[in-house]
Amino acid sequence: MRPRVLVTEPISREGMAVLSASLDVDEAFETCRAELLERIADFDALVVRSRTRVDREVLERAERLRVVGRAGVGVDNIDIALATSRGVMVVNAPESNVVSAAEHTLAFMLALARNLPGADRELRSGVWPTAKPRGVELLGKTLGVVGLGRVGSAVAVRASAFGMDVVAYDPYISDDRFRNFGAEKMDTLDSLLERSDYVSVHTPRTDETYGMIGERELRLAPEGVRIINCARGGIVVEDALVAALRSGHVAAAGIDVFDGEPVTEHPLFGFDQVLVTPHLGGSTEEAQVRVGETVAGQVVEALAGSVPRYALNIPLADVETLAHVGPFMPLAEALGSAFTQLFGLPTAGVEITYAGEIARYRTELPTQSFLKGLLTPVLGDEVNLVNGRYLASEKGIDFTESRTTDAPSYQNLITVEGADASRGRLSATLLEPDGLRMTEIDGFEVDLVPAGDILVAWFAGGAVEEPGIVGRVGTMLGEAGVNISRMEVGREVVRGRAIMIISPGGEVPESAVELLSSHEGVSEVRLIRLDGRVRKQ
Ligand code: MLT
Repeated sequence: MRPRVLVTEPISREGMAVLSASLDVDEAFETCRAELLERIADFDALVVRSRTRVDREVLERAERLRVVGRAGVGVDNIDIALATSRGVMVVNAPESNVVSAAEHTLAFMLALARNLPGADRELRSGVWPTAKPRGVELLGKTLGVVGLGRVGSAVAVRASAFGMDVVAYDPYISDDRFRNFGAEKMDTLDSLLERSDYVSVHTPRTDETYGMIGERELRLAPEGVRIINCARGGIVVEDALVAALRSGHVAAAGIDVFDGEPVTEHPLFGFDQVLVTPHLGGSTEEAQVRVGETVAGQVVEALAGSVPRYALNIPLADVETLAHVGPFMPLAEALGSAFTQLFGLPTAGVEITYAGEIARYRTELPTQSFLKGLLTPVLGDEVNLVNGRYLASEKGIDFTESRTTDAPSYQNLITVEGADASRGRLSATLLEPDGLRMTEIDGFEVDLVPAGDILVAWFAGGAVEEPGIVGRVGTMLGEAGVNISRMEVGREVVRGRAIMIISPGGEVPESAVELLSSHEGVSEVRLIRLDGRVRKQ
């Protein structure tokens, strides 16, 4: 059966085509919330724009949900923290409508500078105005950009082309970025406001930015300032803006977004010098085609188990990093799974070390895979790439990651070590061209393909030296229906213990574990399953 996706707000035809190519798509554009709550349990994916609230109530009923696609940028309508803890990936389309939003901002700036709405209204009411000056130029004015992200920087570049001086405030970006976009860096919002003839906000709506420009802030700006908000409602406090417009301190405003949407009546609508649009910033034809295609592609990728480029709640990787670390993800997952199946969940802590070539890259993604592998034997399908880190911390697993470019015997090596015992250490590498190889189990050197069912038996000192033991174990397992395709024995020089690893090349019945455990000299046996059928620990 194909995965099912529920689309609750319209996206482009092109986006719908991408979804329908591999998923069963249900459209429910006029769906009321009660209906959404009733139906959501049947879907693997949900695609929304800004009006559908994906909150606790929705997520708790969404038993099958694996991905939420936001057709657009802003995700303030989605409870990402809760989605993460429930293993639901959240993806968006952050680049698709940047130009449209920036152009809308510029349209507001030009319209406010020349008071186009007022001129339009006058003429329609039959007034041909006298030749007094109408409006001001943008040339030489200062634009204060609050938030120099994708849209803010596109606005900065375009405003510079009009001969404006651009100042910007963004505490989260590098000095280089200010230089690259020709914006003078302001260390505080207050200093930006004091300098700006136009202020345009381009931040997401978060606890930090909500209400960021209120009465005090507006008063800091020079008299006659023009305010533009094409980002999110509530970043500029609406009541404060109304008061500042009334007093004349703010000369004009262009508002595309409102604190509560949709809205059809608002005190701001009563001002001639205020231009309002109904959240249209990203709504050009071109942007909507791009948004639809991008979000649909991301949703399809997420359901297929890959890491979409715009996943918001798993670590991001650029294309180059992904090309290098991506092949290590299955290896890290196998290591995590094998670790828990061999040694139990490392509740006292665990360290993963990346050595060699791989240590040159960001390794969050393989680590995420490792945590998924580590927890799956205990939590089963509940854990995935999204919530592994969250669930590990919920289980109190103290987890560290280290990297060294030094890997004496291999080009790359990943080692996992439990914090609490002399036992509990695994290493593995990725060999060209034939793939994953486990190189160490618990201090014993091995050469093992980590796939399928694997039996690992520890022998007490000396036991494995007994003549004929390999044959006897083989016969015993053969009688239990286990075909041995590969067996290797590792000895530990110091303690004299030995380890026997048996890869049957097929499924191992549980009874084989008991049988092997009863063999003379065997101190412990573990069965590892690495093809998805993990044994719940
Ligand atoms: C966005 O967040 O992408 C824009 O505000 C447009 C929208 O909400 O759809």
